[in-house]
Amino acid sequence: MLSKVATRSFSSSAANAYKVAVLGAAGGIGQPLSLLLKLNHKVTDLALYDLRGAPGVAADVSHVPTNSTVKGYNPDQIEAALTNSDVIVIPAGVPRKPGMTRDDLFNTNASIVRDLAKAAADYAPNAAVLVISNPVNSTVPIVAEVFKSKGVYNPKKLFGVTTLDVLRASRFVSEVAGTNPVHEKVTVVGGHSGITIVPLLSQTEHKSLDTETRDALIHRIQFGGDEVVQAKDGAGSATLSMAQAGARFAGSVLDGLAGEKDVVEPTFVDSPLFKSEGVEFFSSKVTLGAEGVKTIHNLGELSDHEEELVKGAKDTLISNIKKGVEFVKQNP
Ligand code: NAI
Repeated sequence: MLSKVATRSFSSSAANAYKVAVLGAAGGIGQPLSLLLKLNHKVTDLALYDLRGAPGVAADVSHVPTNSTVKGYNPDQIEAALTNSDVIVIPAGVPRKPGMTRDDLFNTNASIVRDLAKAAADYAPNAAVLVISNPVNSTVPIVAEVFKSKGVYNPKKLFGVTTLDVLRASRFVSEVAGTNPVHEKVTVVGGHSGITIVPLLSQTEHKSLDTETRDALIHRIQFGGDEVVQAKDGAGSATLSMAQAGARFAGSVLDGLAGEKDVVEPTFVDSPLFKSEGVEFFSSKVTLGAEGVKTIHNLGELSDHEEELVKGAKDTLISNIKKGVEFVKQNP
């Protein structure tokens, strides 16, 4: 009787049974992200990988009563962690300390992401890869270059996770406007660092904010991460809000893979929008589908001020992207 019940409860339909691997699962983001993914009913197999500590996190999370198996993997088990993954989420790497920009993390995180991308290309070349490790503007191109070098690059399956900027935009707009943040939908485009983060407030209900209020709001959305870095005072950057953002984005990617309709999230992808100007990757609204990226939406109507912000973002993005590409060329 017991086994019958167990069999029934575990028989998810194929369309809703996915393996998700988290690389860096024992970290500040990795742990709460793993917990939130355990609560996602589309995840039936959760693989938690880290240099150390993943089996402990896995044992802990595995006691949450949802229909997924959770396993922890150490460095000598990365092949097993990745094999058959549908989605790979990468929050591995060092976070910022006060006074640091995301670009200051490049030297350490570039090689971490390159090595994890190599493993992903070898063991799960068809998985959707969701990059959280900073600087996202450079780490996403690093993954692309590694996959290209191994002949398995699929631009529809590579995403830089910019969802935290979207979450912050909703929250901060609501604080200024006195509205419910749950209902505030703000499209954030460009990239994921400082001035490359461009919230499109003109496309919300709040287009008539006075210039000072608008500029302060945009600045807060662009540099909101610094508030957390400063408040944590050397202990790292956003982890809990980032876990929520990562779980939401991974959930949307899974919704897309499962064939659900109208799943749209802003994300940093290999994008045609500004390729002619040398910007290979750009964040804009993307409809997610069974193959990953389904439609990359253009930016829509922008205010003159937003046009200026996008222009400024492009210059920084070009150099951030080049830095990632060059890194892989010089350190294959
Ligand atoms: P953390 O230091 O708490 O955790 C990082 C984890 O990665 C550690 O458990 C570490 O052992 C693991 N790790 C390092 N190298 C690894 C490797 N080669 N293979 C597997 N695991 C490895 O850092 P936290 O706070 O979790 O941040 C992680 C990254 O996420 C940082 O790069 C940070 O800048 C970035 N981040 C990105 C955000 C975004 O919006 N995309 C927001 C906040 C942070």
